[in-house]
Amino acid sequence: METYSRKRTPEMALALVDYIPVANLRGEIRQELREHPNFVLIGETGSGKTTCLGPLLIELRDELKLKGKVGITQPRRIATTSVSDRVSDMMDSDVGGRIGYHVRYDDNTSSETDLTFMTDGILLKKIQYDPLLEEFAIIMIDEAHERSLNIDLCLGLLKLVNESRARLGINPIRIIVSSATIDRNLFADYIGYGDKTNSVEIQGQMFPVKVFYEKEELQISDYPMAAAKKIEQILNSGSQGDILIFMPGKKEIDQTTESILNEVDCSDIEILQLHSELSPEEQNKIFLPSQKRKIIVSTNIAETSVTIDGIIHVIDSGLVKQIQFDPRTGIDQLVLVEHAISGISQRMGRAGRTAPGFCHRLFTEKSLSRRQEFQTPEIQRSNLSQVILAMKKVGIEDIESFDFIQQPDRESIDHAIDLLTKLGALDEHGDITEIGEFMVELSIEPKLARMIIEASDPSSNCLNEICILASFLDGKNVFVRPSDPFLANIVDNIHARFKTNKESDFLTYLNVWQGYVQSGYSESWAQANYLNEKVLEEAVRVREELLNVLSLKGISIDSRARPKMNVDAIGRVLAVGMIDSILRNTKSGFKKIDNTKSEIFIHPSSVLGRVNFREGDYILSADIFMDAYGKTHASSCMYLKQEWIRDLIPQSNRYSEKSHKHAHKKSRNIYRNSRKRR
Ligand code: CDP
Ligand code: MG
Repeated sequence: METYSRKRTPEMALALVDYIPVANLRGEIRQELREHPNFVLIGETGSGKTTCLGPLLIELRDELKLKGKVGITQPRRIATTSVSDRVSDMMDSDVGGRIGYHVRYDDNTSSETDLTFMTDGILLKKIQYDPLLEEFAIIMIDEAHERSLNIDLCLGLLKLVNESRARLGINPIRIIVSSATIDRNLFADYIGYGDKTNSVEIQGQMFPVKVFYEKEELQISDYPMAAAKKIEQILNSGSQGDILIFMPGKKEIDQTTESILNEVDCSDIEILQLHSELSPEEQNKIFLPSQKRKIIVSTNIAETSVTIDGIIHVIDSGLVKQIQFDPRTGIDQLVLVEHAISGISQRMGRAGRTAPGFCHRLFTEKSLSRRQEFQTPEIQRSNLSQVILAMKKVGIEDIESFDFIQQPDRESIDHAIDLLTKLGALDEHGDITEIGEFMVELSIEPKLARMIIEASDPSSNCLNEICILASFLDGKNVFVRPSDPFLANIVDNIHARFKTNKESDFLTYLNVWQGYVQSGYSESWAQANYLNEKVLEEAVRVREELLNVLSLKGISIDSRARPKMNVDAIGRVLAVGMIDSILRNTKSGFKKIDNTKSEIFIHPSSVLGRVNFREGDYILSADIFMDAYGKTHASSCMYLKQEWIRDLIPQSNRYSEKSHKHAHKKSRNIYRNSRKRR
């Protein structure tokens, strides 16, 4: 075994946090890890899976003399960096030393690193460039219950990596899956290859929770008021403890907050919100001690991602919002669904952590019989173009026979292959083209990558602008708009200053960028203009990395300010990347050119919102989505001159018969197709 001078050994590190269940049970877990090459650890949020398994896995690797690092994946960047800080502390090592992290565009590991925390996106990337994944001996997929596209894909690919290793006589990678208290059998079967004993569930501290139901079903509009009434009841009953309310989204959280303010005597309570649009600082407020009784109104984020102590009462709407992609229209819909049984049980459990608790369900007991046992995983309800491209990159020909933990729909696979072919990423045989390879290198959504590749043709003359736009479109909405109507009106006027061009929201983004750069990347400038500074910071990072990837390929950009933006060039390039999002104005409103079923409305936030269009006019939109009420909106829009897309439109319609035989053949010259089009 290796000796660690001065620095702590894994055992010393774990002994320090002995009060955490996983550290406390390290003897038993160590034994299980020795016995089962692939292993599932189930445990309550906060039981120490993420922070304590790493040291145990380093020990295991040394003991078994396995070659390679230990890797632990995380679903989010922020979790990755913060947990690597925490474990470095525990191990008395520097970040980037024995313990490192690797997130998109930021690799903080070294040759000394034993344990790398990385996002699942980074693991995917590593497998794409090293099909044997020789860097690692053990991989732990953490927070596997989230079932994101990347988690499902990484698990399937790891099995493939092990098959390749077996063929070459290399030790397989040990695969560890860790998850909150759901999906135990599914994971254990999947990675166990018949080993039925390869999972352990750590019991968190659980007190009994008494559950109450509604007698009648509520309408969606009734939930905020019903929650407020429940709070009043709890307060009047004299029962102690903080209250956690689960609502499906920000809108319902705002409404609930308002109902509480109207209905409840708030002198002794503090209302706090928790959802993903808040900054990390704002989210942290829920953890701060308070003189008053806390009422936390939250989305699903409090279900498994964070632990809040002191909760005695949970009020659960039993609803959740999720994105549902429709492969027939190519449009995402945000749908409000009844949450799965596993989800509502998890929510209930939040009440019994420190003392016996109460769970007030705002739905009927009868509704349990029609709820799914588990939530539908992302792979069965998402646009798969990025997944399929990743699979093609590692040479998987037959997507449908790939061993996913749960199979995606045939229709979604077809849609993705179709889109990737239109974008030139796949050829007529379904093989990855040079454009496709380049897209993978850019590590950004296929349509955005396609724009950049198109713009990297020297004659396009707009690469700088397109890289800026791609970095904006990659992130969340940069505009902050308060929910208070009076304030919103003032803020709209502030934002209007960026909307100088009435035909393109993309030029608005470029104005925002210019302002931000001129302010010296100033946080206060961003705040004064009601722009989300986190989104701006991320855009800077994404843009820099795009430029890095381009410069490695010998493509440099001229980022000097141009006297006049090249609107024509930008429009042409955007249309190539967003070929799937071109809309035509028909007698009955805007429709997608390849799917004329549903009418699409220009969102009021777009500069095109107030334009009178003629029939036959074309626009494109970077963000088309259907709301929970079935209305389809287009935001981030631009008016398209017919001459920009003349060659594109017939081509996209012709696509299925003729394919891009000549245009997208694997060739040394990736630009051949774009030149031909002009
Ligand atoms: O992964 P899991 O939810 O099982 O737990 P964890 O993230 O490993 O956290 C175990 C314990 O360490 C919890 O009680 C956390 O509150 C604590 N922790 C901490 O104090 N600081 C961190 N940066 C991470 C965890
Ligand atoms: Mg964790």
